Amino acid sequence: MRTVKFLLAAALAVAASGVFAQTIKIGFISTYSGLNANLGEYMERGMRLYMKLHEKDLPPGVKLEILVRDDTGPNPDKARQVAQELIVRDKVQLLTGVIFTPNAMSMAPLATEAKVPFVIMNAGTAVITTRSPYIARLSFTLWQSSYPLGTWAARKYNTAYTLVSDFGPGHDAEQAFSQAFAAGGGKVLASVRVPLQNPDWAAYMQRVKDAKPDTLMVFIPAGKTATAVMKNFSELGLDKAGIKLIGPGDITTDEELVNMGDAALGVTTMFHYSAAGNRPANKAFVAAWKKEYGAKAVPNFISVGGWDGMDAIFHVIKAQKGKLDPNKTMELLKNYKNPNSPRGPISIDPETRDIVQNEYLREVRRVGGELVNVELETFATALKDPWKELQKKK
Ligand code: PHB
Repeated sequence: MRTVKFLLAAALAVAASGVFAQTIKIGFISTYSGLNANLGEYMERGMRLYMKLHEKDLPPGVKLEILVRDDTGPNPDKARQVAQELIVRDKVQLLTGVIFTPNAMSMAPLATEAKVPFVIMNAGTAVITTRSPYIARLSFTLWQSSYPLGTWAARKYNTAYTLVSDFGPGHDAEQAFSQAFAAGGGKVLASVRVPLQNPDWAAYMQRVKDAKPDTLMVFIPAGKTATAVMKNFSELGLDKAGIKLIGPGDITTDEELVNMGDAALGVTTMFHYSAAGNRPANKAFVAAWKKEYGAKAVPNFISVGGWDGMDAIFHVIKAQKGKLDPNKTMELLKNYKNPNSPRGPISIDPETRDIVQNEYLREVRRVGGELVNVELETFATALKDPWKELQKKK
């Protein structure tokens, strides 16, 4: 009887205040084992830092519960299985995270079928967002970096060689770069696609060296693979042979620069985020990161994907006062804008549900004793995914 009375009183108090406790379940799928296993942590830390600093902005009574799952690397079957469980058993209202393209592709039909909005924080192959009307991407596409990179490279170099990991984002980087490089009058001497896991780097680098291109464009997934490329490039003497290494920013991912050492000096990349960007919003983000995770900790573009992805999720929760309707959520995501992301102004293109952002031309330099990606210029402003823009013209 006592308990009943207590519960009644509590319910009345809550009703009187107009505040109903409500927990929103969010399924977060990322990579904590397998290939480049530390990338999941970078994403989760970005997301959690955002939540910690902005929790107070949630509607009264609304709490978030993040259900974290490991997809074990580029593993579409595993990603589909954990997404299915999150939807059916745990009844999550949103899906988010996802480092690798094949995983996002396998989850897309589930998002559609269950009408669960899916906010992508990394996976960057252009086609992904066309696979479900319930996807919005807060990260990037490889076309967004590699197409302007090709335009820039054609002004500087006559010949190029491309080397990419043999999966979706690699194919996109190769195509985007080659198309823009050729349009600018450059000649691609050869294009190789290497296995995603443990390729024989020395053998591939020797082939590049023998071909004597002016520049080598590389895409590999960020993380330890980037460091392996950098070491082999320099150990086989491609730099000394006068070949310039360029690529999307995945090859000089901020957190690995310390492990790459001087081999990375002078490498030029095109990308949407550098931890060394001197926008005030980025300075504040990096300072908060160091305060939370330690003075030596450096966030990368995947961390910013986690941060911005959570900002978009907060936006849809606040706008709906915690009561999420999937179609309303998608409408809100389509019109999402943030003039003040650590990477600069961003928005979602309502037509494609893909990110619109700046691309910066950067070079690895030593600044104050540390290797950083110095942003030299804003090469493209408010750039939409070039693949989708070119499709429209066809
Ligand atoms: C992807 O699978 O889409 C992906 C993975 C790692 C990156 C970029 C893209 O660095």
